[in-house]
Amino acid sequence: MVEDSLSPASITNNLVTRFIGQRVIYYSRLTSTMDVAKREAQQGAVEGTIIIADEQTAGRGRLKRAWLSPKGSIALSIILYPSVAYLPSLIMLASLAVVHSIESVTGLKSQVKWPNDVLANGKKVCGILIESDVRGNMVDYTIIGIGINVNLRLSDFPEILPTATSLSNELGRGVSRLSLIRQLLVEIERLYLMLQAGGSIFEEWRDSLITLGKRISLKSGKTIYEGIAESVASDGSLLLRQSDGSLTKIVAGDATLGD
Ligand code: BTN
Repeated sequence: MVEDSLSPASITNNLVTRFIGQRVIYYSRLTSTMDVAKREAQQGAVEGTIIIADEQTAGRGRLKRAWLSPKGSIALSIILYPSVAYLPSLIMLASLAVVHSIESVTGLKSQVKWPNDVLANGKKVCGILIESDVRGNMVDYTIIGIGINVNLRLSDFPEILPTATSLSNELGRGVSRLSLIRQLLVEIERLYLMLQAGGSIFEEWRDSLITLGKRISLKSGKTIYEGIAESVASDGSLLLRQSDGSLTKIVAGDATLGD
């Protein structure tokens, strides 16, 4: 097992970013990094501030689910103040940054399951939760929460075994959380600055989706849709071809892959 400290200094020391991760708030244990990030953002924390924890006791997932976040995993939230036009792209940005960082630090190739789960060998290794406070056309703040199963022994967590994995499980060795976090911060900033400079990350995100062309079952609100995931629109929504031939645009939901 790789034992690595996540002290603020170890993260910021010679970190080659302008603002993402230049201020780090670290907890060994807390309820959820999202809660602290929200409080900090409401108090005007500098953009790029990150909240990081070795362990979360009440980690939150998408669609009001709980997120298991024991020691050995990465739990971090990043505070941003983007313009409203960038909000759909942030979902793409976060998942792509995770895919790039995992590959550059470990060599492992991962894929995105729509909208923003990251899978390694077909199982979930990372979840992303984005929460924004938007008033009219103005974003007060956006928080990107990223949870990565890094050094987890899956037999200790039988409840996630059927659908999830960890990097150490896939690689057969421990992974430095510190290296992964530092790379992730660099990658998030690179993509964020690229967006602000007018670049697009849509095509790369679309091409990294494992979902397209597959038969899926998709739960959105109380409705379950079945069909073929045909394509995605530039706002990130999924276009699902149902058996009656109709094409339905789905903005948010939870997809289960068939074949
Ligand atoms: C999901 O796949 O449902 C999203 C999971 C997001 C988990 C991360 S861990 C860091 C941050 N703090 C939380 O409580 N949740 C996010």
